[in-house]
This record gives sequence, C-alpha cells and structure tokens, in this order.
Amino acid sequence: MGKIIMIGAMKGGVGKSVTAFNLAYSLQKRGKKVLAVDFDPQSNLTTCFGAEDVDVSIGDLMMNMIEDEELPERDEYIWERNGVDFIPSSIGLSAVEAKLRLEMGTEKMLAVILDPLKDDYDIILIDTSPALGALNINAMAAADEVIVTVNPQLLAMKGLQDFLKTVKKIKSRINEKLDVAGILLTMCDARTILCKTITEQVTETFNGQIRIFKSKIPSTVKVGESVYYSEPLTEYAPGCNACKAYERLAGEVIADEG
Ligand SMILES: Nc1ncnc2c1ncn2[C@@H]1O[C@H](COP(=O)(O)OP(=O)(O)OP(=O)(O)O)[C@@H](O)[C@H]1O
Ligand SMILES: [Mg+2]
Repeated sequence: MGKIIMIGAMKGGVGKSVTAFNLAYSLQKRGKKVLAVDFDPQSNLTTCFGAEDVDVSIGDLMMNMIEDEELPERDEYIWERNGVDFIPSSIGLSAVEAKLRLEMGTEKMLAVILDPLKDDYDIILIDTSPALGALNINAMAAADEVIVTVNPQLLAMKGLQDFLKTVKKIKSRINEKLDVAGILLTMCDARTILCKTITEQVTETFNGQIRIFKSKIPSTVKVGESVYYSEPLTEYAPGCNACKAYERLAGEVIADEG
C-alpha cells in the first residue's frame, strides 16, 4: 500500500516542483515505484517531465469527480518517463479551484482519485501550488504526509507557521492520518551563514515537534539547466551536490517507512 506525500509550502519559488521531480527519480533509483502528480495549474512539474500535448490532465479528472462522472482509463492520464509515472496538469486546473469553492463536500475529490492508485505505487508525490486554497486542501486531504520546503533566501519563517497551522486543522477536521514528514531546506548551501542561521532558527522553533531533514539541497545552476532540458539531476548531473542531496533525502524519506 503506497504512501501519498504532498510537497507543500505557502510560498512560491521555494523548490517544491524541483523537489517533487528529483525526489521522484531518487526514490525510483532506490527501487521504489513512484507516481508524481502535478497539482498546480502552473504545470511546472509537467514541464519538468517534458510532457506536451496533454489530453487528459489532473484538472479533467477533478472535473469528472465534481460532476459525478466516471474517470477515463488510467492509460489516458498516467504518463511515464524513464521509469517514473506521472499525472500531468494544465492551466485548466485553475477553473477547478473556483468550482471546488462553489460545490459542497469537495475536499476529498483528489483523495478519491488517488486512493485506488495506492496499490500500484510505493510512493505518490503531489506537487502543489503556493496558494492556500481549495486545491491544497484537497492535496492535504489526500496525503499521508507533507514535506514542507523552505528557502532561506525568502524570509523562511514567514508563512511556515501558518502553513503548519493549516496542516493541523486539516488533520483534526478532514484527514486524521496526515502528518508532517519534515521540513526541507532548499537552495541552502550548508556552508553559508544564512543557511546555518535559518537552520538554527527552524530547529529552535520546531525542535522535538517537527523533523528537519538532515539533507539540505544546495543551490546550483545544474538545477535550472536540468529543468530546461527536462531531465532529473540523476540523468543530467548525477555527481552534483544537489543530486546527491536529493538521493540522501530519498533515503531519509524511505527510512521513515519503518
Ligand atoms: N537547488 C536549487 N538550485 C538552484 N536553483 C534552484 C534549486 N531549486 C530550485 N531552483 C530554481 O528556483 C526556481 C523555483 O523552483 P521551483 O519551481 O521548484 O519552486 P516552486 O516552489 O515549485 O515554485 P512555485 O510555487 O511557483 O510552484 C526555479 O527556477 C528552479 O529552477
Ligand atoms: Mg512549483
């Protein structure tokens, strides 16, 4: 039975999509069967996978659910790229957000879509948008765990508390199995003072309550390049520090399975 992990944060540009993409391949390298779900209308993860001419996106599946219609066959919406499966997104998902707010009882639409897929995967990763709207509530309602990405460059602590508060609310009201897997520092070079300071600050604030992953993802131009070429770091720059960090992170995420 697979585990669903949401990659989330209330901030934009903190490495959520890059993390979803590279963690997927790092987990696959460790023998895990992975499905990555792009649940952001920006569709950056879909771009990372190099998917074009998307016919059926996650937005279409959500619309099917809201309208009580049957879902299409899996091979119409599950794509595969070098051993990792994914469900693409499109800008149409933004219309779903509005629709979710108008209809009643729609928090579990994504959960209902993903639940039957749990049998076929070890880990399902959900990449999400930076807003805290109906889409992310759906993602939290579907997830077993959340990995919160934090970029020290972007006033890291701001928004983090609010995000964690929302996770707590969803846990008590909608999805009692939801937990925070940990906080992941991205674009954080362990040798810089800023990274050290933020790590200390986050550790002091959440010590004993929330795990801070030992793996921190350093900043490197290789990330931007690999996204440009739609290749994960395991293919584009296997030896680079960020790639190694994502591979260590995969180890920490799996060790968690216990
Ligand atoms: N470790 C890294 N080193 C250098 N650049 C990085 C790194 N991680 C991410 N980036 C770059 O930072 C930008 C933001 O990353 P990403 O798209 O993953 O953030 P995001 O949190 O998903 O943003 P959004 O909230 O808009 O979806 C991208 O241009 C990406 O290439
Ligand atoms: Mg993103």
